[in-house]
Amino acid sequence: MTTIENGSGTREFVGKRALVTGGSRGIGAAIVRQLLDAGADVLTTARSATGSVPEGAGFVAADVRTRAGAEAIATAAQERLGGVDVVVHNAGGARPYESTSAIPDEEWQDQLDLNYLASVRLDSLLVPAMRERRSGVIVHVSSAAVPVTPPPFLHYTAAKAALENYSRGLASELAPFGIRVNTVTPGRVATPGGELTREQWAQLDRTQGENDTIVPLGRIGQPDDIAHAVLFLMSDRASWLTGSNLVVDGGEFPRG
Ligand SMILES: NC(=O)c1ccc[n+]([C@@H]2O[C@H](COP(=O)([O-])OP(=O)(O)OC[C@H]3O[C@@H](n4cnc5c(N)ncnc54)[C@H](OP(=O)(O)O)[C@@H]3O)[C@@H](O)[C@H]2O)c1
Repeated sequence: MTTIENGSGTREFVGKRALVTGGSRGIGAAIVRQLLDAGADVLTTARSATGSVPEGAGFVAADVRTRAGAEAIATAAQERLGGVDVVVHNAGGARPYESTSAIPDEEWQDQLDLNYLASVRLDSLLVPAMRERRSGVIVHVSSAAVPVTPPPFLHYTAAKAALENYSRGLASELAPFGIRVNTVTPGRVATPGGELTREQWAQLDRTQGENDTIVPLGRIGQPDDIAHAVLFLMSDRASWLTGSNLVVDGGEFPRG
């Protein structure tokens, strides 16, 4: 029988070793908290621990935008957890620009590194051991802005679109090895990063300030709304789900 340990779920991650990038605040911190509540051993990362890394999680400081950062995270996961059963690529974000042509070259590259290649690099270090064990779960975090392609964020949405495409392809490649790969796609969520980005956008375009009222379910998301979806995809309840993209956006964004 399953034991209910808290309001949001079960102890279904007992014995699981979980790695979550960007767990010092926002959506990542909510995922870390829910995984700890569900019994997982959790290691999380950010560039610095100045946010609020949930108590009980291990922490490694590393920049996911570089190969060296990915290597530091993979090494820490091996040393501290003894390997990784489930990984969530959550670190990410964007800064809006006035127009596409105002986005400098280095910002395009930075967005590719942060929102796409960070996952590719870290997966490449973690997947070989998962293939050997013939098990593992990978979740990538995208953005509901991808199909909307707002010009101030084209560097961000293009990188997240590449991430979604990569995630589907990796799912096909790894399914025969018992490894599941899925994407969770948040709409607008109340996090430090999300609030800052929306403030910067409102400074560029005053019409953006009113958007909170147009979410069909009547509110913007909370980090736990996204974490629930991530934990579902990581759990055995989703054992026949791979290559999917779960959109969690209160019904706001058009898709497909
Ligand atoms: N909030 C939203 O409305 C929303 C909507 C759609 C999609 N998303 C996606 O959801 C994910 C989480 O967003 P959030 O709103 O929770 O962001 P957040 O509040 O800004 O938190 C981001 C986390 O990632 C870490 N991080 C950022 N850059 C990093 C880097 N280069 N290397 C390592 N860690 C880094 C941050 O710590 P440090 O800064 O200390 O490194 C922090 O722990 C992102 O992928 C974002 O694109 C968010």
